[in-house]
Amino acid sequence: MLRMVRFLTECILVGFMLVCCGLPLSYGQTVGGPGAPTNLRCEYLTDPLGVDSPQPRFSWVLAHSQRGEKQAAYQVLVATEPDGLAHDRGDQWDSGKVPSEEFSQVVYGGKALGSGRNYYWKVRYWDNEGKNSDYSRPGRFGMGLLSREEWKGSWIGGGSANGNEFRKEFTVTGKVTAARVYITALGYYELRINGRKISQNVLDPGWTTYPQRVLYSTYDITSNLRQGANAVAVMLGGGWALQAANLPAYYPSPAFLLQMNAELEGGRQVSVVSDGAWKTILGPVIADGIYDGEVYDGRRETTGWDTPGFADSPWSAAQVVEGSAGIRSSQMMPPIRVVDTLVPVRLTSPSPAVYVFDMGQNMSGWARLRVRGAAGTKVTLRYAEELDAKGMINRDTLGSAKSRDIYFLRGDGVENYEARFTYHGFRYVEVTGFPGTPSLDTLRGRVVHTAVNTVGSFLASKEILNDIQKIIRWSQLTNLFSVPTDCDQRNERQGWLGDAQATAEEAMLNFDMAAFYTNYIRDIADAQRADGALPSTVPRKYGDFPGDLGWETAYISLCWHMWEQYGDRRILEQQEAGLKKYAAFLNSQATGNLIHNRLGHEGDWVELEHTPHDYIQNAWYYHDVETLARIEQVLGNSPDAVSYGQLAQGIREALNRSFFHPDTGEYANGTQAANAMALGLDLVPQDRRNAVADHLTNDILYYHNTHVTTGFIGVKFLMPALTAAGHSDLAYDLAVQTTFPSWGYMVSKGATTLWELWQDKSGPAMNSHDHIMFGSVGAWFYQALAGINQGAGGAGYRHIRIQPHIMEDLDWTSATVETIRGTVTSSWTHFPGAVALHVAIPVGSDARVVIPKLPGMSDIVVEESGRVIWEKDHFISGASGITQAIQENHSIAIDVGSGDYSFRLTSQ
Ligand code: BGC
Repeated sequence: MLRMVRFLTECILVGFMLVCCGLPLSYGQTVGGPGAPTNLRCEYLTDPLGVDSPQPRFSWVLAHSQRGEKQAAYQVLVATEPDGLAHDRGDQWDSGKVPSEEFSQVVYGGKALGSGRNYYWKVRYWDNEGKNSDYSRPGRFGMGLLSREEWKGSWIGGGSANGNEFRKEFTVTGKVTAARVYITALGYYELRINGRKISQNVLDPGWTTYPQRVLYSTYDITSNLRQGANAVAVMLGGGWALQAANLPAYYPSPAFLLQMNAELEGGRQVSVVSDGAWKTILGPVIADGIYDGEVYDGRRETTGWDTPGFADSPWSAAQVVEGSAGIRSSQMMPPIRVVDTLVPVRLTSPSPAVYVFDMGQNMSGWARLRVRGAAGTKVTLRYAEELDAKGMINRDTLGSAKSRDIYFLRGDGVENYEARFTYHGFRYVEVTGFPGTPSLDTLRGRVVHTAVNTVGSFLASKEILNDIQKIIRWSQLTNLFSVPTDCDQRNERQGWLGDAQATAEEAMLNFDMAAFYTNYIRDIADAQRADGALPSTVPRKYGDFPGDLGWETAYISLCWHMWEQYGDRRILEQQEAGLKKYAAFLNSQATGNLIHNRLGHEGDWVELEHTPHDYIQNAWYYHDVETLARIEQVLGNSPDAVSYGQLAQGIREALNRSFFHPDTGEYANGTQAANAMALGLDLVPQDRRNAVADHLTNDILYYHNTHVTTGFIGVKFLMPALTAAGHSDLAYDLAVQTTFPSWGYMVSKGATTLWELWQDKSGPAMNSHDHIMFGSVGAWFYQALAGINQGAGGAGYRHIRIQPHIMEDLDWTSATVETIRGTVTSSWTHFPGAVALHVAIPVGSDARVVIPKLPGMSDIVVEESGRVIWEKDHFISGASGITQAIQENHSIAIDVGSGDYSFRLTSQ
């Protein structure tokens, strides 16, 4: 009876956890056999426009009512017209029935795709039993401008008029059947047609090394054009093109390049391009900069400037400029958008006529002001992460960034203003110069960042873990601005490669990063020097060149993560030559298999105890060469895999000779970072692993009272290394620690985003309150606590390993990740004498589910959905989807196919 009651309680708990994660209990299940594929994507994006790969890749997700199912074959149809597709005609590509288990990274194999054309596609699949699904709902994709010659216009800028508003009128003499605009800028643009802003993208295009490459966006403007007179208008801001950082700005003034192509009924074509015939004027944005913010004079607004018939005779001719000679690539990643609007939680007036709004959250973006007053009234919004003791904003963490927006009122009633060409990192906004007394409704916080989709959720029964997960999410998102940045507030906001590599796995488990990192890896390759060296920031505006190896490693590490998480072989193929060049550069710096020159200066950045750089850089050297060997293996290039493997082995031996102290079982000077890196990178001779692990755990427990001493490089290795060495309980204690230094300490001090330093500091020195680099622990939440991992030999979650680490004082954990192949879930709870685990494995994948025995458990019985599958040390076959079970260390390892499983492990 007692067992029954417990079982019911567990079912309710696991069910509750699933609901918390937003998952229907029967996710992915359909009535009777294979369900139509869903989540159709082309080059990782849903219905993208501007695909510029001649052979784009498709992916979809499968559904099936039964367990243990996979795709035996698929058929993709690509059509030039939706009607054809509706009649199952793939006039562009009919793949036929392709026997294949692949449903991500499926390469287009039809007729050549036409520049600027739209295509429609759908897919069906056959299951194990040869039963076919229905076709999916149609997806679509549009091609970009595939050749440089198709850009007919010129780069134009504001010339001596200092113009930042541009306009051009044109006539359309027929009904528009299709129209597209392609636009890029050196700086930021806002595109308007016939009085309306085109798309919700902001801060577009993404930041690149503009002289080498610019990104263009593609918009469908068929419904924006009309027969007769039309107007196209562009506002320009300086963005990163004009922002000096440690290196000078790229350009003296912004410019843009536009190509509009319309098709009229009867097949006639109309084109409008950027050229010297456009008119320009200095509009209401009278100054703008990433760091300093925007100054906007509402009195300079001119109604109708973006509509036809506007009298633009006082405007000057736009100037044709040289612009960028770089490659024009389509911006194939999610755009930057306003993704949320926060209502302030508090309004105070710490000094007369000074008002401070608290958004309740450190965020990236800007404030939207609502105001009424006399023309010319100047309202200043100043942003800050902190308050001082008197409740005034404290801007010490902003460095030299002015971070303010200034608005001069038009004076014609209620006015709404928000910045366009800048962004700030802030929790507080100080308003001065406000006419009258503001209320909470005066301001809204506009949350802005690259609009990546959430793919992961992690919840646990201990609030501190959820709080940390929450601030990781915020820190990650607020540091995605077309490139992964270090911080969002001070005069930096750079693509520091170390920060990017350390947090990539966390980012990929929480968000859909596939397209974002695909773009960023190309940016890194663009920044590579002829000798193979890489800088520490990309695009390069700061830092050493060559960068510290923990920063340079981002190139190889991100490529590897793309393979692991998404099964992306193409990116490995594309980058192989660059990666080898990078390895050759490292080799050129080495003698006797070790690099003795100090490359870069970071080491274990923001560490509490110093670890010698010489050791850290060589540990990275080993990591990079060893990863390259694995990449060559994936690519089937065995001779290179062998030679990089041998080189890696040589580096490992040299590292052990120079830095390992076999007598004491420690590396370098024995810091946590030194030993964690050695364990994490598998440098340690097998028979010494326990000794090194003991050294590490002793240091944490006895010398530092369960606290970390590492910087952000060391901590990335620390948590997985402890876990792999059998000390997940200690890693957990670090994760839930709340005294200094710890993640929980930040939470206890009210942090809503992660800090740059473990220390709680305020003052003008380096101490941003929104840095993502300590966020690597987020990956450990999914991989160790929830136990969601790639299986042996797996990439892209083809083979999965679910191995949760059950903590005595943690009642339950629940995580789900929408992987490239579908939903993976792991939710567990435990009671005295029982572990309950719910697992979901996508159709087309298999998993080894490793359920740990709790201390003191013996005579194990495992049930799945109430049916016994393990008893008296034996697997009992017969349960659908379960192929075998074995003892694995202190666990029962169960091999399953796709489906939902509810396991319960008890001792008899
Ligand atoms: C950045 C870091 C970066 C470091 C490296 C700092 O200023 O904010 O996140 O990785 O410099 O030098």
